[in-house]
Amino acid sequence: PQLTVVTRQGEERTVEGEVGLSVMEVIRDNGFDELLALCGGCCSCATCHVHVDPAFADKLPAMSQDEDDLLDSSSTRDATSRLSCQIQFSSALDGLKVRIAEED
Ligand code: FES
Repeated sequence: PQLTVVTRQGEERTVEGEVGLSVMEVIRDNGFDELLALCGGCCSCATCHVHVDPAFADKLPAMSQDEDDLLDSSSTRDATSRLSCQIQFSSALDGLKVRIAEED
């Protein structure tokens, strides 16, 4: 399945993502170093914040309380905000587009 990533500079690149990885891992493994993902995916840093294409909103896993609380610490949170380490990539998400959130 494919994932399209939009960088902070507005560059767009589509990559092939491995099913079973998190969206954060797919982004990082493809060399986007803007996505710091400092905690390595344990839902404790919020540096993997992305904005997700609203068309996929109902295909995403539900947000946990922890994720919700962490996102609240971000000044750039909006209705499309998610932590990319909390989204498992799958065929159902083929064509997903995410934009790396601005730095806090
Ligand atoms: Fe730290 Fe996602 S990588 S919260």
